[in-house]
Amino acid sequence: MKNRQIAQFKVSAIGLGCMNLSHAYGPPISDEQAERVLLTALDQGVTLFDTAALYGFGANETLLGKVLKPHRQKFTLASKCGMQGVDPGDGKVVRVIDGRPATLRQTCEDALRRLQTDVIDLYYLHRWDKQVPIEDSVGALSDLVRQGKIQTLGLSEVSATTLRKAHAVHPIAAVQTEYSLWTRNPEIAVLQACRELGVAFVAFSPVARGFLCGQALDVANLDAKDIRRNMPRFSPEHHRANMKLLPAYHALAQEADCSPSQLALAWLLHKGEDIIPIPGTTSVAHLLDDLAAGELRLSAELMAKAEALINQNTVSGNRYNDQSNREVDTEVFA
Ligand SMILES: NC(=O)c1ccc[n+]([C@@H]2O[C@H](COP(=O)([O-])OP(=O)(O)OC[C@H]3O[C@@H](n4cnc5c(N)ncnc54)[C@H](OP(=O)(O)O)[C@@H]3O)[C@@H](O)[C@H]2O)c1
Repeated sequence: MKNRQIAQFKVSAIGLGCMNLSHAYGPPISDEQAERVLLTALDQGVTLFDTAALYGFGANETLLGKVLKPHRQKFTLASKCGMQGVDPGDGKVVRVIDGRPATLRQTCEDALRRLQTDVIDLYYLHRWDKQVPIEDSVGALSDLVRQGKIQTLGLSEVSATTLRKAHAVHPIAAVQTEYSLWTRNPEIAVLQACRELGVAFVAFSPVARGFLCGQALDVANLDAKDIRRNMPRFSPEHHRANMKLLPAYHALAQEADCSPSQLALAWLLHKGEDIIPIPGTTSVAHLLDDLAAGELRLSAELMAKAEALINQNTVSGNRYNDQSNREVDTEVFA
């Protein structure tokens, strides 16, 4: 596995997004299956593991702590705060965005306990809480760096303007935002800002939440808790339109002699040495498929063909619904 850099950390060019092991897509998987995926990733040279307080409302951090504790020295551990599950008092935990300094401090303590570690290598603000100045949230995180509880800071789904404000308070090691052939928003301004400031870019949902993976997705029958149910692109109407792009996309993957997922990941890796995709999967076979993308060489012609085929003008539907759009701070195409 080739390496890339996030601040002082040398990490595998492809990291593992761990969200799916605890929630998000499809029916839940067993702890044994999740453990197999995590340990296979480690065994295959993955040295960046990505989790968050939000995932499984703490269960994902607990899982990583349990499985990866004996291997803690071998990888860079990334987690997130500022968006988590909160019980309002009726026993029904709900997702809350809260970037107040006291909340971030408490979330970090909880994360360290769940992850069974003394320090989190990269700690992201999962969403900028627009009720709290970004300088205050980042200031609180920089205190945690000084206290040795976290090593570096990241931001997720922020605009170039917010990144610059935050970076002026404390150096930002990485921005994590959705980026793939079908979600190009970072190309508007954030990638450029990251490059100017020397900030690594971690691409989440790099295989388009399964859309670019070659499996026929039955969106009408998604699991009740599958988060794609609330994403316009996966509504039956938009999905039907987007499916029309897939035969040509699969033909391109064939031309590149790779799987559809590998083409999506290799495209990102070729967009810049500073880009680190973190695909998520519940399957060891899919994990091995994804990791092999690190060895691919794509011609400039093939890159151009893929970009011309799948981009903001050819994809139907917004990536997020109105509620989620209000929660992010990223630039959007006019
Ligand atoms: N910062 C944020 O706000 C944010 C938001 C979303 C995600 N993330 C992070 O990014 C990570 C990845 O994003 P994501 O999970 O949303 O999207 P993704 O990685 O683009 O897609 C995951 C989906 O693709 C399927 N898949 C992956 N590789 C495959 C392969 N080789 N063949 C067939 N299917 C394949 C998985 O199904 P199987 O399980 O069947 O393989 C799963 O349904 C998350 O785990 C999380 O750590 C961060």
